[in-house]
Amino acid sequence: MSFKDELACRSEAFNGYLEEALSGPFDCPDILADAVRYSALAGGKRIRPVLTLEVTKIFGGNQKEVLPLALALEMIHTYSLIHDDLPEMDDDDLRRGKPTNHVVFGQAQAVLAGDALLNLAVETVLSGIPKEEENYLEAARILFHASGINGMIGGQSMDIEGGRDLNYINSHKTGALLTAAVLCGAVATLGAEAMEIEPLKRYAEAVGEAFQLVDDVLDVEGSTEELGKETGSDEKNDKITSVSLYGLDETKNRIKELQKQAHLALDTINYDTKFLADLADYICERNS
Ligand code: IPE
Ligand code: IPE
Ligand code: MG
Ligand code: MG
Ligand code: MG
Repeated sequence: MSFKDELACRSEAFNGYLEEALSGPFDCPDILADAVRYSALAGGKRIRPVLTLEVTKIFGGNQKEVLPLALALEMIHTYSLIHDDLPEMDDDDLRRGKPTNHVVFGQAQAVLAGDALLNLAVETVLSGIPKEEENYLEAARILFHASGINGMIGGQSMDIEGGRDLNYINSHKTGALLTAAVLCGAVATLGAEAMEIEPLKRYAEAVGEAFQLVDDVLDVEGSTEELGKETGSDEKNDKITSVSLYGLDETKNRIKELQKQAHLALDTINYDTKFLADLADYICERNS
């Protein structure tokens, strides 16, 4: 099977679990449940949960046991996208090929749908605590730390403020959650002290930075049809991005450099990291 087919297959399988996790029934107005499901089940590449489950597999961990962490990652990621698109943030109208959450359900319900997904993420993680809980709880701590004030939310805050520390912005708003996706699988399986954690972290940080740089390039050069979101969002909002600061060519060179760094990090791990290597190439070379 080609890498792309393999990725599609894994994200399809994950979609089934996410659908089940969001099947409710919820004790809430229909509009809120609809808003939550609308964005979460709208597609998306599912890169973060796929990373978590792959890393778990590589080290011989129990994928079923780690699944709640993978589900929580995608719930948190989806809530961040719903909020990211709000008029007070990036003010975008298209996401995952469909009108954005607030366009369909209104801003208030969109804020609440994002909040609801965050709480569901916490509930999902807590309800999946296994008997041998120590490593799982450490992985959960990593996830919520990375997506909170010291991670993704901090990055979004500086992005919106127009702060000029690009490294902070990218490593926090995007890198933190991708790094958590990799570390969750490894820490839940091997524990936080394992010697594989450091190289995996280097891999994830390189891939995380590259992920956002590619996103910024695609915001200029990509096609709305392939991306499922409008291009030109960063220019419209006067965003500080690698492209606005250093230009397209330099950004593309940096992506190539990061791609190399990701491979070098994997080379030091004595397990089968082929899928992770292919995923790094896909992230660096994608056009959607
Ligand atoms: C978009 O993330 C937001 C960024 C962090 C750049 P993705 O490109 O992973 O979005 P989906 O999940 O595939 O829709
Ligand atoms: C979003 O970055 C990062 C998070 C949602 C945390 P962008 O604002 O560049 O993402 P897109 O381009 O809207 O997907
Ligand atoms: Mg944004
Ligand atoms: Mg945006
Ligand atoms: Mg973007």
